[in-house]
Amino acid sequence: MLIAVVLLVVAVLVSSPWWLPRRVVALRERVFARINGDEGVPVPGELVGVERFRELYAHPAANGRSKGAALSDLFWYWLAPGPEMHQEHLERGERYDAVARTTRALLAVPKGEVEEVARRCAVRGLEGVRGLVRLRDLMMPVWAEFAYELVFAERCPREARDLIAANADDVVTSLKCTGLRHMGRRDRLTRYLLPRLDEVRVPLPGGLTPLEQAYYLQGAFFNTAVVQLSEAMAHLLLVLAQHPEEQERAWTSDDRHFDRVINETLRLYPLFGIAHRVTSGDIPLDEHTTIPAGSVLCFNYPEFHRAGFADPGRFDPGRFDRPAKELNHVPFGVAANRPCPAWRLAPIAMRAVAREVLDRYVLDSSVSHTRSLPSRGPCLLTPRGAAHRPRPALTYLRVRDRWEDVWRSLVQLVLGTYMVWDAHRQRLCERHFAEAASNPPDASDAEDRYAHPGHEPGARRSL
Ligand code: HEM
Repeated sequence: MLIAVVLLVVAVLVSSPWWLPRRVVALRERVFARINGDEGVPVPGELVGVERFRELYAHPAANGRSKGAALSDLFWYWLAPGPEMHQEHLERGERYDAVARTTRALLAVPKGEVEEVARRCAVRGLEGVRGLVRLRDLMMPVWAEFAYELVFAERCPREARDLIAANADDVVTSLKCTGLRHMGRRDRLTRYLLPRLDEVRVPLPGGLTPLEQAYYLQGAFFNTAVVQLSEAMAHLLLVLAQHPEEQERAWTSDDRHFDRVINETLRLYPLFGIAHRVTSGDIPLDEHTTIPAGSVLCFNYPEFHRAGFADPGRFDPGRFDRPAKELNHVPFGVAANRPCPAWRLAPIAMRAVAREVLDRYVLDSSVSHTRSLPSRGPCLLTPRGAAHRPRPALTYLRVRDRWEDVWRSLVQLVLGTYMVWDAHRQRLCERHFAEAASNPPDASDAEDRYAHPGHEPGARRSL
């Protein structure tokens, strides 16, 4: 009897990598929904199908950003400090316009310069690297330096690089529930930025306090830009590591083909799971159905990106022989409703960095590749020209990845539940709007508070 129990326990333990992570993920989703409430109209979903996804996203009444959605408390918690100054979460208005204008000015860099800066940062980041790496960790310092150069038009000092990478890593780690927030790390970056606001390459939005300006920069450039580019690159390099023929082809291909590879990577692994909007007015769908004002629309990117493709889970850059706009593909959002301001720059910079990586290494990996990639993309980098014998490392990676998955899914369940509860308790977004309502800004100077003379073209510095 005892032997049977021991054997059963051993069997359960040994087989746990094959069943436990999936169950824990499902449990985590249930716990999240329970704490957060099941608000939201899923799109695509029962009410609105795939064919009307873009139309609804682009609807003028689908324009509320944070106010009125319980989900926002969670995002604000993860993005703090200063989530109220995060461009992504600002409501429409003069403040949003001023911030968005500054972001556009900082991102308006000619293609050749984007490539040059990205390449320079990659060369520094790849120095002395070989063997087993985690791709997201490898890419963070590269994009930290890149973002710094976009903002300050000078080479990124080591201290700044480390502060930016620590900030971005902390945000994305907490977002994936593999670690808690460390506000000290994030505050150190804010303190670094505050005395340097005058050195920014374009004038910062007027009408904001210095702290608000620092929060804006930290949010858009030293958090979103670094996190998104590092995640996107981890997906791109991992997918190439797992498709050797595509890897060889991409290495020698022209930019057109490389763009297909990037498009297909972002189709399979879109960086946004869900983007939400709060409706500011009723949206009639047909004569019987209306989405009422105040609804939270949850646009599901992965589901949209799978719809209408044959064998949608297969990596096939050939799908993008057709123009991307004819396909269910919105990796940077929809043009009519606050799309990503880096939709032009990001693929150019990614291509330049990926070429530097492929010029130096052959990539191999055997880990599971999911959209959220909590493993940070373990991968073997073999210098080109060195003996390429990846088999032992691939076996090791496969086994380690399975077991890490077990431990990580439990960590995510516990930390995720705690953070959802803590965010719900702090209600950063709800409290911000409640305070703003009881303390409205002085309307008399609203006209020109955000109009900054420095937005004239002559006041900018190029990279
Ligand atoms: C491959 C890399 C990237 C991808 C796939 C990506 C994707 C997206 C998507 C899908 C949205 C819109 C979400 C929505 O509709 O709510 C968005 C918004 C945004 N992204 Fe990106 N992004 C990337 C890189 C960057 C970079 C490099 C920056 C640099 C500043 C950036 C800054 C922003 C900002 C500020 C917004 C908010 C726009 C607004 O609400 O006005 N992103 N991004």
